[in-house]
Amino acid sequence: MERSQITTYVNANKERFLNELLDLLKIPSVSADPKFAGDVNKTAEMVKQRLIEAGLDKVEISKTKGFPVVYGEKIIDPKKPTVIVYGHYDVQPPDPLELWDSPPFEPVIKKTALHPDGAIFARGSCDDKGQMYMHVKAFEFMMKSGTLPCNVKFMIEGEEEVGSANLGPWIVENKNRLQGDVILISDTSMIANDTPSIDVGLRGLAYMEVEITGPNRDLHSGVYGGAVANPVNVLCKMIASCHDENNHITIPGFYNDVVELTEAERKEMANAPFNLADFKKDLNVAEEQGEKGYSTIERTGIRPTLDVNGIWGGYTGEGAKTVLPGKAFAKISMRLVPNQSSDTISNLFQKHFESIAPKSVKIKVTHHHGGEPVVVSQNSAAFKAASMALEESYGKKPVPTRGGGSIPIVALFKKELGLDSILMGFGLDTDALHSPNEHYGLFNYYKGIETIPLFYKNYMANK
Ligand code: BES
Ligand code: MN
Ligand code: MN
Repeated sequence: MERSQITTYVNANKERFLNELLDLLKIPSVSADPKFAGDVNKTAEMVKQRLIEAGLDKVEISKTKGFPVVYGEKIIDPKKPTVIVYGHYDVQPPDPLELWDSPPFEPVIKKTALHPDGAIFARGSCDDKGQMYMHVKAFEFMMKSGTLPCNVKFMIEGEEEVGSANLGPWIVENKNRLQGDVILISDTSMIANDTPSIDVGLRGLAYMEVEITGPNRDLHSGVYGGAVANPVNVLCKMIASCHDENNHITIPGFYNDVVELTEAERKEMANAPFNLADFKKDLNVAEEQGEKGYSTIERTGIRPTLDVNGIWGGYTGEGAKTVLPGKAFAKISMRLVPNQSSDTISNLFQKHFESIAPKSVKIKVTHHHGGEPVVVSQNSAAFKAASMALEESYGKKPVPTRGGGSIPIVALFKKELGLDSILMGFGLDTDALHSPNEHYGLFNYYKGIETIPLFYKNYMANK
């Protein structure tokens, strides 16, 4: 397989590849909001259709307790290795809608400073429809050109953005047909379009919700204010106490299982190109912040965090209302690093919050989804194949990086199937994933389609 052969095929099919992705992006497959359930299922149908058209066999929409998994396979020779492609067809809610420059499910192409060739603006363009669909088109190329060198299985889920709770049981039930050698995923970022990188780690997650109840009803803040605990005040104080003056997390035992990197490993990490001035400029912040003693890349890659995702209570409507609210709520998540465990940390959080709540309020802590952290070995045949593929395609050796995000199912692939995952992502951190105006570069989309067949080629050569 020559690189020029792939480039020729991609160039000849550019329009169609783009239009097919745009059609996928027009369906609002928001897994978090029941209102969109019909659209999520419709998207599964479209993915199924596209897998069939690309040449996969036994394509089906496989039911789970939640949204289905779209599965398909091409077995060319049972004795040959099998690559399992994982991706997700669900997307994050588009809110807040008013901050989008164009409607989230009406994709438009616009140029940006980082994407001079244009980028597709739509929810899910980068995370993960655009990146997932590159695999379908790369597979189509290998089928059409007779260059598919091994077996392939596609497993595209519809609940990644809500924690993949039903995918674990599905994997266990489908162990037989999920036999394979490696999982290939494009659902992460690279450093820049001229600086290819491969994620060699993902953070885990523990997601909690806290409800604070004060008096049995909302009160007049003048009549009662000062004499009764205000749940919003109390919750804010509790949250503020979770970080000390060095931005260390104060939950007892929180760092017990954290693996500290060696000086050599930290030096290695510091070699990755990173421009703090660009980082601050992109976010329009005067100063970065984070845990003392660690660089910005370390803060997102190898250190655990605690962040409030949402907080509410009391009056938030127009104008002013004097009220001492009866309740306050917060959604709080912690990003975890090796070897922290999502359950252990969730329990420590709960115990800590229950212990610091003053007697003047009641507290209820609930556990949402979680996921375990992951480290990817750089010594496997598959990792080397991904590295060689990117080098061949970008003309530069990719830099290994630790991604700050989470893909909870990756740890389960290892646990249940014994398989390592390769995180060959083509998006950029600045592509506004989960934010208004999410976009995915056309360069990234086509480059991904061109690079993936090289992974297969190099994987077979290395195995
Ligand atoms: N694709 C992202 C994860 C990601 C993005 C990893 C960029 C590395 C770099 C994924 O869709 C995601 O958003 N995961 C959630 C996890 C979840 C349980 C909702 C996350 O990280 O918040
Ligand atoms: Mn994703
Ligand atoms: Mn996501």
